Amino acid sequence: MKTLSVQLSENGYEILLGKDILHKFTSLCKKSSLPKRMFFIIDENVLRIHKKYLQTNLFDEKKDLVCKLPAGEKSKSFKQISELLKVMLENKLGRDTLVVSIGGGVTGDAVGFAASIFMRGIPVVHIPTTLLAAVDSSIGGKTGINFNNTKNSIGSFYQPKFVLIDTTFFSTLPEKEIICGVGEIIKYAFLTGQDFYDSVLAALPLFYQKDFSKTVHLISASINVKTEVVSSDEKETGLRKILNFGHTFAHSFESELHFKIKHGEAVTAGIICALYLSHEKGFITEEQLKKFLYLPKQIPLSATLKKLDKEKLYRVMLSDKKNRDGKIKFVLLKNIGEILLDVEAEKVEVFNAFDRMFKSI
Ligand code: GLY
Repeated sequence: MKTLSVQLSENGYEILLGKDILHKFTSLCKKSSLPKRMFFIIDENVLRIHKKYLQTNLFDEKKDLVCKLPAGEKSKSFKQISELLKVMLENKLGRDTLVVSIGGGVTGDAVGFAASIFMRGIPVVHIPTTLLAAVDSSIGGKTGINFNNTKNSIGSFYQPKFVLIDTTFFSTLPEKEIICGVGEIIKYAFLTGQDFYDSVLAALPLFYQKDFSKTVHLISASINVKTEVVSSDEKETGLRKILNFGHTFAHSFESELHFKIKHGEAVTAGIICALYLSHEKGFITEEQLKKFLYLPKQIPLSATLKKLDKEKLYRVMLSDKKNRDGKIKFVLLKNIGEILLDVEAEKVEVFNAFDRMFKSI
């Protein structure tokens, strides 16, 4: 088992990563003096698929407080949050209760948000069960829901007490989910350096084969990038913005497709657009562009992206929460490991980036 840590001035925490480590949950809670009363909120699919493993190592469905959350992006809504809060009230949860979220990014974002506003905040622990949630959304305390068809427009920064990542859960993920996680890992490759980029490229077949014993070092390296960034800029006033590489484009695809595209797939398409835009703006040469596109282009993308209307996508981007003075602020690339923040672009440059991505699918 590997232990990584998010170091914050207040509320720092550990991330435990390994195979078959779910049984360590109770001792981790004891070590951190967490409340004994627990409320488990779990993605319905995860409960169905991993019932026996969960019952043996985490909870007893008959005795413990267990609440199922519907799978899919629709759970990131006020309706679902209000239902969760109602169950929490009915069961008389208080600050002496630990909320345990078990599932992918949707579960973690929604449960984290509910925990952050219930009784002005009750403790939460994340047990991410997808590759994407493990390397990104479960770490760093971003919680939220979608509102008015706008991704993550309502939410809070609310750090968990710890994060337990048991790769055992990944073995049953469908290929689409693996692709999603790999999309975020590719993002870290661009943020970090050529060696990481080359290792991710070489490890792609291993990810598809779900060989997590041979890829765990890349999962751990990705988490490490995230913990270092979050440790230095918890509330995204500066450096943390680099984690949004590809995300301004990605969120517009998700909104326009009414969240019928997976986040990680949208991120890969977003990274491709961000690379084309970096080229449009003259930050990278034609030769670099070709080289950098090689990795994200290994990921199969849905042809539905091609049908999207550029004007509509652009309008969504204009409401991105990273914008300032009504201008879209892009995260672009100068080289692998050299990221440019708050870059503005002409509409025609953005449209060209869309067109070039559409053509490449
Ligand atoms: N996924 C971006 C962040 O956590 O800041």
